[in-house]
Amino acid sequence: MFHQFKSTFVLVLFLRLFLESRAASNICIICSCRGNIINCSSRNLTSVPRPIPPNTQTLNMAFNHINEIKPGTFQNLPNLTDLYLHYNDIKELKAGSFQNLPSLRTLYLYENNISEIHAGAFQNLPRLHSLYLHKNDIKELKAGSFQNLPSLRTLKWLSNHINEIKPGTFQNLPNLTDLVSHKNDIKEIHAGAFQNLPSLSQM
Ligand SMILES: *[C@@H]1O[C@H](CO)[C@@H](O)[C@H](O)[C@H]1NC(C)=O
Ligand SMILES: *[C@@H]1O[C@H](CO)[C@@H](O)[C@H](O)[C@H]1NC(C)=O
Ligand SMILES: *[C@@H]1O[C@H](CO)[C@@H](O)[C@H](O)[C@H]1NC(C)=O
Ligand SMILES: *[C@@H]1O[C@H](CO)[C@@H](O)[C@H](O)[C@H]1NC(C)=O
Ligand SMILES: *[C@@H]1O[C@H](CO)[C@@H](O)[C@H](O)[C@H]1NC(C)=O
Repeated sequence: MFHQFKSTFVLVLFLRLFLESRAASNICIICSCRGNIINCSSRNLTSVPRPIPPNTQTLNMAFNHINEIKPGTFQNLPNLTDLYLHYNDIKELKAGSFQNLPSLRTLYLYENNISEIHAGAFQNLPRLHSLYLHKNDIKELKAGSFQNLPSLRTLKWLSNHINEIKPGTFQNLPNLTDLVSHKNDIKEIHAGAFQNLPSLSQM
């Protein structure tokens, strides 16, 4: 009985060590790497493998079970242009989830379970062009959720459960042309919810 318990314990310990060393190991062992493109799609990942090589341009983490983006996960990736995180189990976007990514153009976050976007989730993303947030569970858009994204053109969030848009939610988005937002439950849009959106043509 005790012996059996002991060997189970040893097995669990080994498994932990194995998983931990696997998590710390080169991302290209778990994922496929081709030039600056890393494909971690459909690998049953529960977290983002690290470290991510600094020269990465395309990072595909779609179709996994990632449930958390720790602030700073995507750091020091000056050339990252496309980040795929759709079809995961992400529940919230914390401040600093996506920051200081000078080359990021497209960010795919649709089909997750995002209910909350904290102010500062998207920061210093000077080239972000398209942001896909549709098919999540977003209920409320907070002030500061989308601010100072000078290149943002397309923001898609249809099929969420947004019922309120607070003032200051959208600020200084000079190039936003497509705000795709039907299939929500919007009941209240506060004065000042949309400020300085000179390019908006479709909503
Ligand atoms: C990425 O990897 C998945 C799983 O191996 C594969 O199905 C998919 O075709 C790959 N995508 C690309 C763009 O190589
Ligand atoms: C992911 O998990 C599913 C279900 O357990 C399994 O069928 C599949 O082979 C796993 N895929 C990988 C890449 O491990
Ligand atoms: C990013 O791309 C530029 C231009 O191609 C290159 O000079 C630089 O070394 C790259 N940075 C990294 C960290 O790979
Ligand atoms: C999404 O999150 C809610 C609670 O925030 C939970 O009840 C639900 O099961 C989650 N759905 C999935 C698919 O994870
Ligand atoms: C905004 O759009 C204009 C017209 O397409 C373009 O010239 C400009 O570079 C864009 N600004 C940014 C910061 O992307």
